[in-house]
Amino acid sequence: MQIVKIDTAPFSEQRPGTSGLRKKVRIFQQPHYLENFVQSIFDTQQALVGGTLVVGGDGRYYNREATQIILRMAAANGVACVIVGQGGLLSTPALSCLVRKYNAQGGIVLSASHNPGGPDEDFGIKFNAANGGPAAEAVTEAIYQRTTEINGYQTLESAEIDLDHIGASRLDGMQIQIIDPVTDYAALMQTLFDFDCIRRLLTSSHFRMRFDAMHAITGVYATRILEEMLGAPAGTVINSRPLPDFGGGHPDPNLVHAHELVHMTQGHNGVDFAAASDGDGDRNMILGQNFFVTPSDSLAIIAANAHLIPGYQQQKIDGVARSMPTSQAVDRVADKLGMDCFETPTGWKFFGNLLDAGRITFCGEESFGTGSSHVREKDGLWAVLFWLNLLAVKQQSVATIVQDHWREFGRNYYTRHDYEGVDKAAATHLMQDLRNRLGSLPGRQMQGHTVEYADDFAYTDPIDNSRSEHQGLRVGFTDGSRIIYRLSGTGTQGATLRVYLETYEATPEKQQQATASVMAPLVSIAQELAQIVQKTGRDNPTVIT
Ligand code: G1P
Ligand code: ZN
Repeated sequence: MQIVKIDTAPFSEQRPGTSGLRKKVRIFQQPHYLENFVQSIFDTQQALVGGTLVVGGDGRYYNREATQIILRMAAANGVACVIVGQGGLLSTPALSCLVRKYNAQGGIVLSASHNPGGPDEDFGIKFNAANGGPAAEAVTEAIYQRTTEINGYQTLESAEIDLDHIGASRLDGMQIQIIDPVTDYAALMQTLFDFDCIRRLLTSSHFRMRFDAMHAITGVYATRILEEMLGAPAGTVINSRPLPDFGGGHPDPNLVHAHELVHMTQGHNGVDFAAASDGDGDRNMILGQNFFVTPSDSLAIIAANAHLIPGYQQQKIDGVARSMPTSQAVDRVADKLGMDCFETPTGWKFFGNLLDAGRITFCGEESFGTGSSHVREKDGLWAVLFWLNLLAVKQQSVATIVQDHWREFGRNYYTRHDYEGVDKAAATHLMQDLRNRLGSLPGRQMQGHTVEYADDFAYTDPIDNSRSEHQGLRVGFTDGSRIIYRLSGTGTQGATLRVYLETYEATPEKQQQATASVMAPLVSIAQELAQIVQKTGRDNPTVIT
């Protein structure tokens, strides 16, 4: 087969954001656009030459075409072996599992996570390092720098590659291994959780659950694991067939986008347990009957109950980590149980070093991301299995487990307000203006709250000392409440302003209030402080979670 070198010129703006390069499909479909980015990966990641690469995506529109392009380029660039999920499919956590298990030198994830899919929607590509996790900032920056000067890429003239039949084949000098996307991941889950115990719960007539795959990749994983391996009744997994456009939906597991599932938990006939995952399978939402578990609480409860789960009961849990805007619920668990607690910038890549160094076992983000040291990505189905294992051991409802937790550790009321599609210049101005005023805020009284500190969050990685600046504006109050402002780094249109709000309640009698009413004063302080209405023209957020 003929290796061909194609001349090309750089595209602007190929800098990866919070989680890889995400753009509209049409941008990716421009001749040479994807190729330039992929060649920049090969040019900067020399270990891939003669090495193993794992490739897979969430099945969204353009997944197949992109997989073909990447395989041809991998062969032309001297990669020795590529492991690909059947049909070009792999969930993000499963890809991480495979990179680690087969000692690959890296992985390429094709996904725009929870963003909608289809010809007019989003596509994305992300490089994962040999530890199975999202590449560190220094690596994504090197890839980006390369995209700014690239003048050609190498590919192979070949016929369509068969992605659908499991087994090994060759593409020029490169081996292609098409594997079942679920097998290795499911085997890993069996080492962590008590499948017999979960099976007893799922097959009992007293327990009813639903899992919403949102027409995305976890349909494949959840059907196999929950229904086939663990015996949950057929139909437990809803919206189970992955579709290139996710059925026209927004595959983001939150109260707004997974409302069909939320509805199934409501009323006295609501199911006992419900969960959902996102486009690429790394996010999760956990619900009980008439009960929503915030992702921040979920992380805290997981950390507090690790001793009940087989995969974690033998090890001493030294530490936990959360992204800065995530509520401080897990900090209280860490404090009480004598674990280290790290506060990192937003994005899973910041957990990688801590996990690799064995400093933390669990980590999570308020954005419906929870995970552990078993892989280097957040893991939706893992969180669901953790909860099922916990429910099976404790024989209590979701609500009881959470409320007992609050009684012991206190409750961190939490909400996030997103203002999507805001004018970019207006959003940047709002942040800059607030940044300029931070120094004047400490001591200021607002609606009965006193500002204790206000800063522009920066992080020094404790393992490699790398420094990340401007990771969100924090305003902390003397009663432990916090307001955080950040601009999203994953959007593809305009700017998204995220406002994260949290307040602590230690008194059990006051822990059963509606979040919206508890947070109302803080919400109005947040709007006033940043002059959101004046600066964005928006009276209300687009999404409240
Ligand atoms: C969002 C979430 C962040 C998460 C990322 C990837 O990023 O807020 O926690 O790691 O998606 O799933 P953002 O759009 O806020 O930059
Ligand atoms: Zn995702």
